[in-house]
Amino acid sequence: MTDDSSAVRYNGLQGKVAIVTGGASGIGEATARLFAQHGTRMVVIADIQDQLGQQVATSIGIDKCNYIHCDVADEHQVKSMVESTVQKHGQLDIMFSNAGILSPSDQIVHELDFSQFDRLFAINVRGMALCVKHAARAMVEGRVRGSIVCTGSVAASHGGKMRTDYCMSKHAVLGLVRSASVQLGVHGIRVNCVSPNALATPLTTHKLGKSVEEIEKVYETFARLKGSVLNVKDVADAVLFLACNEFVSGHDLLVDGSFAG
Ligand SMILES: NC(=O)c1ccc[n+]([C@@H]2O[C@H](COP(=O)([O-])OP(=O)(O)OC[C@H]3O[C@@H](n4cnc5c(N)ncnc54)[C@H](O)[C@@H]3O)[C@@H](O)[C@H]2O)c1
Repeated sequence: MTDDSSAVRYNGLQGKVAIVTGGASGIGEATARLFAQHGTRMVVIADIQDQLGQQVATSIGIDKCNYIHCDVADEHQVKSMVESTVQKHGQLDIMFSNAGILSPSDQIVHELDFSQFDRLFAINVRGMALCVKHAARAMVEGRVRGSIVCTGSVAASHGGKMRTDYCMSKHAVLGLVRSASVQLGVHGIRVNCVSPNALATPLTTHKLGKSVEEIEKVYETFARLKGSVLNVKDVADAVLFLACNEFVSGHDLLVDGSFAG
């Protein structure tokens, strides 16, 4: 017998409390806005760009969105950000662990700069693990059947001509998601990864010193799918699906237009 009550199982975000790390900009900002549009009771933006983060929160609406300063590389800050969210808003239903950086240099393997490497790993790997750890604790303690989504990348499953540290860090994110989904399933907590192809956000426009249009022209060649350019809204839509769906766990959802490397 089939149950066609999809509106119940795909029940949106009504009344839910979500944290979005790296929510002051790019993919995180678009996702925070989309969550709020889909009825979250509160979206907490956790970032280190205080002015921008405050602006985004205010533009979403201070009754629906808060900004909190949190460097995801620092366990104390992550723990207190999660705890204060639960204290103020009663629970944590969704963690979108999204903050990430690129190293300033190209990081080709024989020219690796390990101070840049360590900083990138502190944010992209340690920061991701800290956010998953403290979100999972809050969900387990609150008996919330929550959803954790981490931002991976096509670099989580492909090598590249440069950015060795970034590629390694995103492979690690996939390992974290797969392990966490196995361990947290018993608590009804889902853990997934969203893996975008390259797209124009401040991360890439600032790094390459190019305009959105110039970047999109370059990145067009990275997808076999033609006639469409990946943008932050496409990634946010995929995160929304992972946040709402009730049975997908341990999955890496590629938003890559068939990656052409
Ligand atoms: N833009 C791309 O081409 C692309 C492709 C695949 C994956 N990604 C991933 O998407 C995620 C979001 O990147 P984006 O493209 O939206 O870039 P972005 O620079 O627009 O956003 C990243 C946000 O993370 C914040 N951040 C950086 N370090 C932080 C820290 N220590 N603590 C808290 N916040 C911090 C930044 O302030 C910024 O607001 C990253 O994990 C990135 O690796 C990006």
